[in-house]
Amino acid sequence: MTKLDIPFGRPWIDDAERDAVMEVLSGHILTHGPNCHAFEEGFAEMMGGGHAVSTSSCMASLHLSWIDLGVGPGDEVLLPAMTHVATAHAATLTGATPVFVDSEVTTGNMDLDDMAAKVTPRTKAIGIVHYAGIPIDMVKVMALAKKHGLKVVEDCALAVEARVDGTHVGLFGHTGCYSFYPVKHITCGEGGMLVSKDPETVKRIGEFRAFNYDRSGPGPKVPGLYDVKGLGMNYRMSEMQAALGRVQLTRMPEIMARRETNFRALQTGLNAVEGVYVLDSGEERLKSSFYCAIALLKGDLAPWRNDIALALNARGVGTSVYYPHPIGRLRYYRERFGYDANGFRGATALADHAIALPCGPHLTIQDMADIVACVAEIVAAR
Ligand SMILES: Cc1ncc(COP(=O)(O)O)c(C=O)c1O
Repeated sequence: MTKLDIPFGRPWIDDAERDAVMEVLSGHILTHGPNCHAFEEGFAEMMGGGHAVSTSSCMASLHLSWIDLGVGPGDEVLLPAMTHVATAHAATLTGATPVFVDSEVTTGNMDLDDMAAKVTPRTKAIGIVHYAGIPIDMVKVMALAKKHGLKVVEDCALAVEARVDGTHVGLFGHTGCYSFYPVKHITCGEGGMLVSKDPETVKRIGEFRAFNYDRSGPGPKVPGLYDVKGLGMNYRMSEMQAALGRVQLTRMPEIMARRETNFRALQTGLNAVEGVYVLDSGEERLKSSFYCAIALLKGDLAPWRNDIALALNARGVGTSVYYPHPIGRLRYYRERFGYDANGFRGATALADHAIALPCGPHLTIQDMADIVACVAEIVAAR
């Protein structure tokens, strides 16, 4: 059989992106300029509301959000056990204590009952993640947060264009945080965005992100003169990155159409394979961003995840794992906070028994059929 060529992710970069970056390089504003502002405006427009500020990564956006909320030592922050370590690092860096919530295996999202059970008098906030772009029900999350007076930060790294009741994710909580790492929906190489419904929040965080410079004082606007009104960071995006991101944004309608078509084909095909279940929100009002297909292996198939992934790779099908461990099982978190595997059965099942399969715009319907055929053959040979 000829080897397939189905990488897990491949950025969609054309002459338009190359020209846009070259144009920046031909000028003299290389950071924090008109491309950043236009990218921020374009991103907010795509979301259909809110305000946006560009950052250097999703983790930077998350870190800025927690600092802005003032969480710190003595505070507990509820976070999903099943997420990228960036979600946990960003909150833990403030000195707050992360308290992990188990996942539902049907959606990969935080289990709302476990979330409610883990609220204590010390809980200050909830950091939610839309797992693999499948939106968690933000109406229920916000109701729980309101009941206990908690703030909410949304990690939307994989969730561009995911919506709850038609509203873009990221617009429910205090902030929404996005990633433009190469395998994401759109890329800047590296980069991030922070959004909020509240323009003051975006302004305040935007200033903190850029050293907290204050140029509003009296006197002539002499370049290079500034005051500083508080501590700050340099978490800015460059003009080259923003120019790339602006072109990528124009591709979003086509990117989403291709992702959805590919995802549905993969979902239908894989769900017909005995022992395989593809995670989904299960509700039309919770619209996915179709980042990838998380195929959970059940029953006798479950222990064979690594062998099946390697067999797929040998056939030329790229795979990944979202994510390799429940956060509490990672050495640093385990040694610092302890970890009870029994408390995280859902997250453990996803870490150990699920394979992430690609459905990005670099792939065709034929690629989806090939992936399904490969999975079916490999599974049948078990
Ligand atoms: C849920 C989640 N949050 C945050 C990140 C980190 O994003 P970045 O590399 O832009 O910091 C990732 C990366 O995949 C992620 O999956």
